[in-house]
This record gives sequence, C-alpha cells and structure tokens, in this order.
Amino acid sequence: MDYAKLVSRNMPAEVRSHPGIAADTDYVFSVTYTDLDQMPTTELADSLRALMPSEGAALAKYPPPQGHDGLRDLIRQRLSENRGIDVPLESIFLSSGAGGAISTIVDAFIDPGDTVLAEEFTYSGTLNMLLGHRANVVHIPTDVDGMDPDALEDAIKSLNARGIQPKMIYSISVYQNPMGITMSEERKKRMVEISQRYGVPIFENESYADFYIDGDPLPPAMMGMDDQDGVMYVSAYTKLLGCGLRLGYAVAPEPVMDTLRKLRFGVSPSHLTSMAVYGYLSEHGDEYIPSVADSLKTKRDTMMAALGEHFPPSCKWSQPNGGMILWGELPEGANTWDALDAAIQAGVKYNPGAMYRADGEGNNKMRLTFSYHNPEQIREGIAILAGVFESQGMFDNA
Ligand SMILES: Cc1ncc(COP(=O)(O)O)c(C=O)c1O
Repeated sequence: MDYAKLVSRNMPAEVRSHPGIAADTDYVFSVTYTDLDQMPTTELADSLRALMPSEGAALAKYPPPQGHDGLRDLIRQRLSENRGIDVPLESIFLSSGAGGAISTIVDAFIDPGDTVLAEEFTYSGTLNMLLGHRANVVHIPTDVDGMDPDALEDAIKSLNARGIQPKMIYSISVYQNPMGITMSEERKKRMVEISQRYGVPIFENESYADFYIDGDPLPPAMMGMDDQDGVMYVSAYTKLLGCGLRLGYAVAPEPVMDTLRKLRFGVSPSHLTSMAVYGYLSEHGDEYIPSVADSLKTKRDTMMAALGEHFPPSCKWSQPNGGMILWGELPEGANTWDALDAAIQAGVKYNPGAMYRADGEGNNKMRLTFSYHNPEQIREGIAILAGVFESQGMFDNA
C-alpha cells in the first residue's frame, strides 16, 4: 500500500526542528518539565480518591463540552484574584494543555498566507503550528520590558500600507519563552491600545504566570486591560502539576467562543484528570504554588551560579524573576544548532535559539530550562555543557 500517495493535502508544511531534540540524555535542559522535586503525586491521587464517591459517576458520560465546571470556576476565581481578568464561566474552556488551546485557536483563525506578529523569539510549539498553517510570522524587536510597541505599530502600519492586515499579535507576556522577559504594565497598556487602534487581536499566552519567584509583583494580564473583546488568552496546569496531565485552558471573548463551539473547543482533557487537578488545587493550591516558587528559586540560582563558574563572561544570560527558563547569548559566530549533537553525545540537551525564529536566525542564542533536575544535577550538567562548548570552539571569539 502506498500511503505517501494518500496523504491529505491539508498536512502541515514542514517546520524547522533539530533532530537531536528527541534524543534521550541524562541532563535535560531543553524542556520546561514540571519541578520533579515538588510534584505532588501522592496528594493528587488522594484528592482524586476523595472526589470519586461524589463525582465518579460522571465518568460514565462524556464531559461537558467546555470541561469540568468546578475546575473552570476555580480558574475563573484565580484569574480574577491574580491576573486582573474578570470573566463569566462560559468564557473558559479546558484543553489538552495550553498547546491544545493554541492549536484550536490557530485552526480557527489562521489561513495560509496570514500574517502573525510575535516577539523577537517565540515558543517553538506555537511557531511550528503557525508555520504548519503556512502563516507568515513577523518577529517584532523585543527588549527587557517586552515587545517594543513602537516597532509593533510601525510593523502594522507598513503591513497595512501593503494591503496586509495581520491576523493577530501573539505574545507570551510573562516570563517569556524563550527570552525570560516579563512585559511591563505600561507596555501592556500600549499593546492593548495598538491592538484596538488597528483592529488586530492579541493572543496572550500566560503559561508561566504561576511561577513568580522574586522581584516586583506581576503586572495584570492584557486580557483584563481590554474592553473591546480584543484579547484571547491561554494558560495551563501542565508546568505546575505535571506535563503528562495535559491540562490547560483558554479564555476567549464571546465572538471567539461562538467560532470555537463549531470546532467543539480544544482537544478536551480527561475528565478524571480535571477532577484530580480541581480537588488538589482547591485544597492545596495556596501552599503548593509558593513551595514550587521556593524550589525554582534555588534551581535558578544554582544554574546561574554554575553558568558564571563554567562559562566565560562573554556569554550573557537572562536574569528572570520567575518561570523556568534562562536565555543565553554566546559570542558572535558560536553556533548552538551545530553544537547540539556534541552536547547530546556528552549527555546534555538544550534548545538552540534558531528554533524560536521563523527565519531560523539566532544561531548564537540558546535556551536552558532549570525546572526538572535537582541542584546537584544542574551543577553537573552545566559543567559538562561548558566543556563541550569549549571543545567545539564556541568560546573562541570570547
Ligand atoms: C509558552 C508555552 N506555551 C504552551 C506550551 C505548551 O504547553 P502544554 O504542555 O501546556 O501544552 C509551552 C510548553 O513549553 C510553552 O512554553
């Protein structure tokens, strides 16, 4: 049977990905896995067990189209208390991770040739979905306060002058992946103004908002600043409670919900998982979230100290106040894409910067994650990585 001839014409376009990212290594600094030292496996099971007598019978049926009501209500309360987002329950739907919600929104709105504006480097999963839909992704210059609003406005004006209306502005506004930046409140307000002035919706991804470590409190989400149905929002409990739980959510204004209802919302998560997460977070969320922050602080500081010890000062690292990611810039000419094979041979994985750009630029940039391993493993892995980079001549221009 020749399946190659039968493949659908709707198959996504090829996207750029390093073959090494799937390799099995001892030290994984390439994925924002859940903090294994904090993950509450026993308590999650206990919460589920406690809910089964009252909620277990619901598993005989298919879950409600937008997901578990109790969990959605908890999300509604938490968004109002922590992110300045006040929405009714009907505006929230659960999805298979943040990725499931992103995929649903991209499917609903992106046609081949559409233009999407994004930060200078942006999360490779969304980038791949957009490129898979043959979108034109335009990266906007981004500094320590987030996407530059003047550059954003100039880009929209110049696209409009060529008859192109961008479909959306995609922004990871908190502990940005991969750059680690948090957009300032003033910038967020300007982003919302620009979105409203030019009629380009914002697609805001706050997947890391639960991971405040230190510094100023987080500014509210752009969704709470907008009064014109101009922001769609996604986040998840994957990073917080377990990537394998596949539990995320989206918040969308009614006109978007209307469209998504036709697609029957994100690939829905298991109702059993939703019950466990609901039970656990309602009971333990207020203690668990700060305990993850404490652990991430130790891991971030350990990784930064190890980088300071083993890498030359010409390598610059971000200093994030939260999240799970460090963003690095190596000397000009260093190629993190090419060096990944040698690093994998030595047992360490990271993500090359070029994975986060539609044009594959950024070869001297890289992303490291500090959430999964314990401090001792972090120290070991970073020392090995520095040795590999040195032997690959990556510091030669230092
Ligand atoms: C910014 C961002 N969005 C979405 C995702 C996908 O996460 P999930 O596992 O919740 O689907 C990730 C995962 O790394 C991410 O960093």
